[in-house]
Amino acid sequence: MSEYEALIAAATQTRENAHAAYSNFRVGAAVRATSGRIFGGCNVENATYGLTVCAERIAIFKAISEGERGFDAIAVVTDTDSLTPPCGACRQLIWEFCGDVPVVLANVTGKIEVLRMRDLFPRPFDSSNL
Ligand code: THU
Repeated sequence: MSEYEALIAAATQTRENAHAAYSNFRVGAAVRATSGRIFGGCNVENATYGLTVCAERIAIFKAISEGERGFDAIAVVTDTDSLTPPCGACRQLIWEFCGDVPVVLANVTGKIEVLRMRDLFPRPFDSSNL
């Protein structure tokens, strides 16, 4: 079993719950806490568009709200051939809570690419700047 199989499976499963009524672009994410627990998230859109929340942020906020601190990987799953990296806002949040973790991009047909947060988000603004 690959190191990320359970994480990708959780993101793929949670993607089924996406509320993507406006873009029709369904995203699943999952974050793995150092406790071993995995938290899934999906994008939840809104008629005002701007209140939409991405799958990655929902996964992270679920974990944080359950008391988890410290994460060692995050996955993002879509059904596109071109794999989907986290948006800019999510990169800021992933950096805040997860730091330089592997970011596992996958699609529903099994294509996988693993990137590092330090490469996706070089020279971040974070607590070290305050
Ligand atoms: N979206 C995510 O959930 N995560 C990403 O990494 C990229 C974008 C969502 C937001 C919106 O519901 C839809 O995809 C189209 O932008």
